[in-house]
Amino acid sequence: MSPLRVPFADPGRAAQAEMGEIRLALERVVDRGWFVLDEEVRAFEAEFAVACHRPHVVAVATGTDAIEISLRALGVGAGDEVVTQANTCVPTIAAIARAGAIPVLCDADSTGAMSAESAADAVSTATRALLPVHLYGHCADMPALCGLARDRRLHVIEDCAHAFGATLHGRPAGSFGTIAAFSFYPTKQLAALGDAGAIATDDAALAARVRAVRAYGETDPGVNSRMDELQAAFLRGRLTRVDADAQRREALADRYDEAFSDTAVSPLPRHPGRGHALHLYVIEVARRDSFRRALHDAGVATGVHYAPALNAAPAWRQVVKTPVPLPMAERLAGRVVSLPLFSTMRDAEQAAVVAAVVGSQPRRSHSRGGSPSRT
Ligand SMILES: Cc1ncc(COP(=O)(O)O)c(C=O)c1O
Repeated sequence: MSPLRVPFADPGRAAQAEMGEIRLALERVVDRGWFVLDEEVRAFEAEFAVACHRPHVVAVATGTDAIEISLRALGVGAGDEVVTQANTCVPTIAAIARAGAIPVLCDADSTGAMSAESAADAVSTATRALLPVHLYGHCADMPALCGLARDRRLHVIEDCAHAFGATLHGRPAGSFGTIAAFSFYPTKQLAALGDAGAIATDDAALAARVRAVRAYGETDPGVNSRMDELQAAFLRGRLTRVDADAQRREALADRYDEAFSDTAVSPLPRHPGRGHALHLYVIEVARRDSFRRALHDAGVATGVHYAPALNAAPAWRQVVKTPVPLPMAERLAGRVVSLPLFSTMRDAEQAAVVAAVVGSQPRRSHSRGGSPSRT
């Protein structure tokens, strides 16, 4: 019998299960006859504002646009430096560069989120903003980063592409900084049937500038970044199920923790007080290529988020500045592997992943003493 093949993610499976609702949304939008920035988008903006605890939400076409538009609306542009972490994915720095600013890289902490100490060292007189990424769904140390921003008079743009539903001491990711950018890419916690993104802020005047930049600009040149009515209609349905999906991801992650607790497998740590939305379940592996090959041969797809660190990315190393050492970002870039984790994952699929991972590792001589803390 051929082994069970486990995909890394399966957006089609979730959408298949929602086919009836998708047809109704399609009919609603076609009957109304207007396909961008209309009633569905306005309703989604209002509903998402409640969900992310921010009074003002502006829907846009992608998460990358959400970051670029946030920077432009804040007046961050040519010659300005924006400090972000070296272990994020390319769109974070692509958005900074598209706004005309310079991405400056700092290090991560052991969870993969931005290190506040390293960010402080990377700030210069040209820095206008900090751009922490709540990587994998691990909320960054926002009190420390917002304190740094206050001291140095910087804006804080939270990249929440991985973090819808993550919290820090009960407060949601995206509710700390000046402004927050979300992606609804089809594998994210809140996932569209294509591309979509949103921007959230407490500041009404800033939200108005974001709306102007989204539609070509008013006083300064802007961009075209509209959300489709169909995506908004679909996302509204998904928003009602996102908590249940998050619980399923959480249960799957707990089961991984449990299964790996007396093995040599090392999941990234999770700090107490941080509620982890777990976009990705990430482990560190010493010999990554052979590990991934073994899992592939066992029918299990894996991912790497992200390698190389962006100071070494061929297309970007001339664009970024790297004023501080990046030991953690470089370590993670060399060792991280993401295991399948998606809300429609079946128990038998997870069992196959666990068997493949554990089977590839030497047994430990003693127990790690339970799963890492996660609150
Ligand atoms: C950390 C991070 N930032 C930004 C983005 C950009 O979002 P999008 O793909 O919707 O443009 C992504 C997308 O996958 C991401 O993972």
